[in-house]
Amino acid sequence: MKQQLEDIKQRALAALDGAASPTALEELRVKLLGKKGELTAVLKQMGKLTPEERPVMGQLANAVRADIEAKLEERKSALHAAALEAKLAAEAIDVTIPGEPVSLGHQHPMNQVLQEIKDIFVGMGYTVVDGPEVELADYNFTKLNIQEGHPSRDRSDTFYFTDDDSVLLRTQTSPMQIRTMEKMQPPIRIVAPGRVYRKDEADATHSPMFHQIEGLVVDEGITMGDLKGALETLMKRLYGEEAVMRFRPHHFPFTEPSCEMDMQCHKCHGTGEVDGQVCSTCHGEGWIELLGAGMVHPEVLEGCGIDSRKYSGFAFGLGLERMAMRRMRINDLRLIFDNDVRFLSQF
Ligand code: DAH
Repeated sequence: MKQQLEDIKQRALAALDGAASPTALEELRVKLLGKKGELTAVLKQMGKLTPEERPVMGQLANAVRADIEAKLEERKSALHAAALEAKLAAEAIDVTIPGEPVSLGHQHPMNQVLQEIKDIFVGMGYTVVDGPEVELADYNFTKLNIQEGHPSRDRSDTFYFTDDDSVLLRTQTSPMQIRTMEKMQPPIRIVAPGRVYRKDEADATHSPMFHQIEGLVVDEGITMGDLKGALETLMKRLYGEEAVMRFRPHHFPFTEPSCEMDMQCHKCHGTGEVDGQVCSTCHGEGWIELLGAGMVHPEVLEGCGIDSRKYSGFAFGLGLERMAMRRMRINDLRLIFDNDVRFLSQF
């Protein structure tokens, strides 16, 4: 029996050493120490021993069991450590590999400038309103005092939808003046940005679709001084205190008197020349035309049901692309519409 126990121990220790997985270990444990295991089978023969032999064999059997259990534990932790090693190696992350850059988009430069302009007007108490791009000729022309036969109504300039020329793509944001005044009574203080369309060939300064921002203020006692104040505030907030502008008399059918506002060329500072050459930014003019404006014509006010003896107002319409080009120092209008990421990512 002693020999049997020794045999079991030797085979067990060798087998345990060779066990390659926790499952194999568990199978061995059952086989060796389980109820139907080899050791138990030997112990069952204890009854055949003499009373003197029994405690000796008992002790030996316990020692064998303890050795096997110790070996089991040892193998278990060795296998566990090896598994952990393997897992760590498999999941290792090389923190020195450069990351993949995430490219974030941002607002288009023209939208950035639009946002700045809206913020400036909202800061002066204006409301931002929106209106249709497909417009009635009535609103785009007639109610603005632009009568049938006026050159701007010509089919060569305007996109019409109908044979009777009554529906069109708006050529200006000025119809928003009419839409606003028909809906509300003074005090009125709005800006209306949006797309406008004209049959222009695209070049460095023209596009068949571009953006305007219309402004309209109607209240008691509004004067040309209020118009100048509002526009000067806009320019200085947008371009800095050093911005220089001038107002020139002009004609628009829906304002009286009317004017245009120019800004001094930022490249030649009004001289029209750079290093003895004609300035390429203003074409030698020294000034860049930015917008049309004026005092709302009394007939336009009356046409919208506003009492022109009690109220007066001013209006202006500015070209957003021009403002953005100046603000962002862009020299070709087409760049704004091309949507080339190499260009856009510079802003
Ligand atoms: N709508 C005019 C244009 O597109 C610009 C303009 C001129 C707007 C005078 C106005 C204004 O509101 O009062 O040329």
